[in-house]
Amino acid sequence: MDLLQIHAKVARGVVGREIEIKSILTAMDAGKHILLEGPPGTSKSTLLRKISHEAGIPFYLVEGNIDLTPAKLVGYFNPSQVMEDSYKPEYFEKGPLTRAMEEGGILYIEEFNRMPADVSNVLISPMEEGEISIPRYGTVKAVSPFTVIAAQNPYDDVGTVRISRAFMDRICLIKMNYQNEAEEREIVRLRTGMDSSEIVDLSVKMVRKTREHPDIKLGSSIRGAIDVVDLFVGMQKLADQPGSHFLTTALMAISNKIWLNEMASKTADEIIEEVYASFRNQYPDLSHPQKNATEKSSSDNGVQAIESEEEQRVKKKIVT
Ligand SMILES: Nc1ncnc2c1ncn2[C@@H]1O[C@H](COP(=O)(O)OP(=O)(O)O)[C@@H](O)[C@H]1O
Ligand SMILES: [Mg+2]
Repeated sequence: MDLLQIHAKVARGVVGREIEIKSILTAMDAGKHILLEGPPGTSKSTLLRKISHEAGIPFYLVEGNIDLTPAKLVGYFNPSQVMEDSYKPEYFEKGPLTRAMEEGGILYIEEFNRMPADVSNVLISPMEEGEISIPRYGTVKAVSPFTVIAAQNPYDDVGTVRISRAFMDRICLIKMNYQNEAEEREIVRLRTGMDSSEIVDLSVKMVRKTREHPDIKLGSSIRGAIDVVDLFVGMQKLADQPGSHFLTTALMAISNKIWLNEMASKTADEIIEEVYASFRNQYPDLSHPQKNATEKSSSDNGVQAIESEEEQRVKKKIVT
């Protein structure tokens, strides 16, 4: 499939992100590797899974962490078979890098700056030369459109390593910032099926406010607003006073998604209460949320259909 032709299909069901989708496809089409830089919840996984699905490209997800080793990425010989017999290529358990190279897939590495430097160095040769030589297995050549896509959160500085110059020099950078307020409202509507604009507006306003609060290092992603709406709808079914439980659900949904500054003078709960109080008067009528059930179930089915089809067609390997 012509990668540049699929951008319209990828954009379907995604709010905004037109230029980011085109940038990713253009880089992949040109055989470039990518660093996606953005905080959590900025649609990185959503876009890559859709590209993989629409283009029929295998997708391998690896979570970067301190325990990742070159062998987990490349693969290793099964020790018991080697002991019984000898080093035969069929006893090699391929890791996600080897699979992605052989199958022309996407190797997506989340939290790239959390993995040890010796692991990221393993990627240099596949990215630069399109091949890797594995002792006793042979040389693996990358099939097009093999692409390494690394992601990192620019606000994450605890337990991270600086990405090496050698690696930076071989990738293209695509920044994924938070989307604007209108797009964020649309994302929440799409994901929750909630029609009541008051509830969607207030949830989005609250998470956006956490991103600029002086006591917060990393505010809530859009996942916080999605969770507020989903939980509030559930709570309404049990509530005797409609609208009275918004703060309870906001605390459940957002408290653990924000990351306080070391010097913060308030707790996460206090900040959410303060943010809620600053907006509450603008939304006098939070009761009786209108949930558009058809929309919710059809969008859910759409997402599930993509994922289950993808699971069958695309071999996904998660390495932790
Ligand atoms: N532009 C968007 N269009 C549709 N849904 C989005 C968009 N951005 C985020 N979401 C939704 O928000 C949640 C987080 O997005 P995700 O792609 O997992 O973020 P990331 O991988 O950057 O952490 C998912 O439920 C996703 O469907
Ligand atoms: Mg993700």
